[in-house]
Amino acid sequence: MNFSNKLVSWYQNNKRDLPWRNTVNPYHIWLSEIILQQTRVLQGTPYYLAFLMSFPKIEDLANASEDKVLKMWQGLGYYSRARNLHFTAKDIVNNFGGEFPKDYKKVLKLKGVGVYTAAAITSFAFDMPYAVVDGNVIRVLSRVFGVSIPFDTYAGKKDFQQLAQELLIEKDAAIYNQAIMEFGAMQCKPKSPDCSSCPMQDFCVAYTVNSVAELPVKSKKIKVKNRFLHYLMIEQEDNIFLGKRKLGIWTGLYEFPFLEFPVKMDEKQVMQSDEWLKIFLNSTCDVKSVSSEFIHILSHQKIHAQFWQIKAADVVLKEYELIPKNSLLEFPVSRLTEKYFETIDLG
Ligand code: ADE
Repeated sequence: MNFSNKLVSWYQNNKRDLPWRNTVNPYHIWLSEIILQQTRVLQGTPYYLAFLMSFPKIEDLANASEDKVLKMWQGLGYYSRARNLHFTAKDIVNNFGGEFPKDYKKVLKLKGVGVYTAAAITSFAFDMPYAVVDGNVIRVLSRVFGVSIPFDTYAGKKDFQQLAQELLIEKDAAIYNQAIMEFGAMQCKPKSPDCSSCPMQDFCVAYTVNSVAELPVKSKKIKVKNRFLHYLMIEQEDNIFLGKRKLGIWTGLYEFPFLEFPVKMDEKQVMQSDEWLKIFLNSTCDVKSVSSEFIHILSHQKIHAQFWQIKAADVVLKEYELIPKNSLLEFPVSRLTEKYFETIDLG
């Protein structure tokens, strides 16, 4: 048996029963793929089921408010994916009669749908012959075929896409694509894969030359920036200042006013900073508590956040709204803020 047939036969004996594998509904498949780009199967499954429960049809998602969609996405991070999901649902309803086009190029043009997702939707839903290339696929191909070109370069992307397409079993595209991704997730794992039980052992180049741990190769090392944020939960009677973010990955989510510094600052330094004085100079302020540091890792940033509970009767913040403190949990917030909420009593 060749690689592709072995892969499919391995899949038939080892596949997990996952909810989006029992459907050819392109809406369900698209939704699952967008969620699974963001998280693992275990964490993603409840989100997938909850989305389908709230929005059984693409029209339901299209008609939902952005706040509701973001709230349901809460905890997954990279909220632009949720905004694109909402946008594309409306696009499909308004411009495609509520049906995904059975055309790779048209699917690829949808907002939030890249080469990987377009191949996943058209192959899983319509059995069209497009090979998927994601992190799992790259790992399997680089090891089995000994491909050491960095996958995050233009030439590397082209090579992996071409190799994947050559190996695709065209008449069984859906199964073949599921099989190679599942093989990467379950057998050819990133760290300490179980090569002794692997059906590809005989012809795996990396196994033969003992380079499994070195493959695949990445060219760029991401530089991580440290950011030190101090979120100010400023209360006036039973209300608290909250605003809707207009920038960056947390656009559309709600947040407290915050001060940002490039270095770590202790409480006294924060309270003597110009940024602090700008807010509190003309008011009495009573700091009730300062949380310990919450660390939140994003692809290019490490956020160090502290949350301050403050009573300040006469602060004015034009960019923020005063909302009742007991309605805080209704607003979509970042996973970082949610983690802090889990540690306090919001009443
Ligand atoms: N990760 C991304 N897409 C997936 C799928 N369809 N099944 C399992 N894991 C996945």
